[in-house]
Amino acid sequence: MLAPTSLREIPKTNIFRKGDVFVLFGELFGRGYANGLINEARKAGMTIIGITVGRRDENNALRPLNSEELATAESNLGGKIINVPLMAGFDLDAPAGEPTPTDLLADMTLKSWQDDKLDWAHIEKCREVGIKRFKDSVAKVMSQLDGMIADGSNVFFAHTMAGGIPKVKVFLAIANRIYKGRGERFLSSSALLNSDLGKLILMNFDEVTANTFQYLIEGSASIRARLEKTGGQTRYTAYGYHGTEIAIDHHNEWQTYTSYTQGKAKMRLERVAEAAWAQGIKATVYNCPEIRTNSSDIFVGVELSLFPLLKALKTENGGAWAEAQWQGCRALLQEGNSLEGLLQKIDDYNASSIMQRFRNFAAWPMDNSAELADLMIGTSDEITKMHLDQKALVTDLLSALVLEGTGPLMFYETSNPSAPVLWLNHDIIAKKLNQMHQ
Ligand SMILES: NC(=O)c1ccc[n+]([C@@H]2O[C@H](COP(=O)([O-])OP(=O)(O)OC[C@H]3O[C@@H](n4cnc5c(N)ncnc54)[C@H](O)[C@@H]3O)[C@@H](O)[C@H]2O)c1
Repeated sequence: MLAPTSLREIPKTNIFRKGDVFVLFGELFGRGYANGLINEARKAGMTIIGITVGRRDENNALRPLNSEELATAESNLGGKIINVPLMAGFDLDAPAGEPTPTDLLADMTLKSWQDDKLDWAHIEKCREVGIKRFKDSVAKVMSQLDGMIADGSNVFFAHTMAGGIPKVKVFLAIANRIYKGRGERFLSSSALLNSDLGKLILMNFDEVTANTFQYLIEGSASIRARLEKTGGQTRYTAYGYHGTEIAIDHHNEWQTYTSYTQGKAKMRLERVAEAAWAQGIKATVYNCPEIRTNSSDIFVGVELSLFPLLKALKTENGGAWAEAQWQGCRALLQEGNSLEGLLQKIDDYNASSIMQRFRNFAAWPMDNSAELADLMIGTSDEITKMHLDQKALVTDLLSALVLEGTGPLMFYETSNPSAPVLWLNHDIIAKKLNQMHQ
C-alpha cells in the first residue's frame, strides 16, 4: 500500500434491519471499539450474537464460561453468546504431554532473553495444534450460528480480536521498558524483534490479530452461501491500525504511534480482507484512530494523537456541540492550565524533528528510539499532570467520541463498502459527530 485509502464522504446506505443478525467475533469490553458498532446494530433492531474466548482453569486448560460468567457476558452484550471458547494464538498449546511455548519461555530472565534460543520445530508443532483447536471451535460456533440465522436475512460479522502477548513474567518487564521506559529504563523495540522471544510473539500476533479474520471468513462460508442463495447478504469488518491522519500545523497529515509491534500483523489483516475482496466477499478492514481502551493503555503516549480531534471538531462544520466538547475538556484541567496551552504542547511535540522522522508511511511500522521515548512519554506525563483527576482525562472524553463516530461510519459504509481497507481519520469522524449532534 503506497498511501492510506481514506473514507472522505459520510456513508448513507443501510441494508440492516430487524431480523438481521450482528455477530461480534471477540469479547466486548467497556471502552472497546466494538461498542460503536453494537450501538448501531441495536438501533437498527438487529439480533446481536457474541462469542467468548473462554477462560483458563487452574491447569491452564481452556474452558467455556460458567453459568454466572455467561449471564454477565450476555447482559453486557445485550445478546446471546455462543459458549465455545475461541481463544486464539498458540502460546498455551502443544501436542499432548509436551511443553507449550509459554513453558519454553519460563526459564528466560531479564539477563538472558536476548540470547536465549527457541526450538522452532517444536514451536511449529504447537502452532499447528493451536490453529486446529481454533478452527475446530470456529466450526462448532458456526454450526450453532447457522440455526440462529433465518434464510434471506443479512449478517454482519464484526471481528475485534487483537493480542497474543504470552503471559510470562520476563515479558512484563520487557514490555514495561519498551512501551513505558525512558532514560536508563528504555529498551529498543528492535532488540525484542531480533530475539527469538520477539519472533515468537510476532507469530502469535499474526495468529490472533490477522489469521483469525481468515478463519472467520472461511468458517462461515456455508452460512454465506445459504444466505446469498436465499436473498440475504453477508458482510465482514475488522479493526485495523496503520496510523491516522490528524490536524498537524493547520493541515491534515498521517502520523503514527511508534513502536507499534503489532504493525506487521495488522498489515497481514489488511491482506486477508484484500484476498477475500478479490473473491467477491465483502470484507473491510477499518484502520481506526488511536484511542484509550483496555488493550491500548499499555502504550504510554498513544493517546497524544487524540488531542487534535478537538481542532477537527471545529473545522469540520463544528457548532455549539463542538464548542461544548471543548468546554467539557477545559473542565477536566487544573486551574491555571488552559486547553489552548495543552494543544500548544501537542503542536510543539508534532513539530519536533524527532516526531517528523517517524511520519514515514512507507517505513511503517518503525522501531522506537531513546529520543522518541523521552519526548513521547515525557509529553504524555506532563499532559496527564495538567488534569484535576488522573482518572478523568481529556483523552477519555475524546476516546469515547471517536468510538461514537466510528460506529455509524463503519456500520453504514459496510452496507455498501467501497474498498477492502479504509482509514477513518479525524476529519471524517469529526464531520460525522457534528452531523449526529446538530
Ligand atoms: N485502541 C486503539 O487505539 C485501536 C486503534 C485501532 C484499532 N484498534 C483495534 O480495535 C480492535 C478492538 O480493540 P480495542 O482497543 O477496542 O480493545 P478491547 O480490549 O476492547 O478489544 C480487544 C479484543 O481482542 C480480543 N482478544 C484479545 N486477546 C485475544 C485472544 N488471544 N484470542 C481471541 N481474542 C482475543 C478480546 O476478546 C477483545 O474482543 C482490535 O483489533 C484493535 O487492534 C484499536
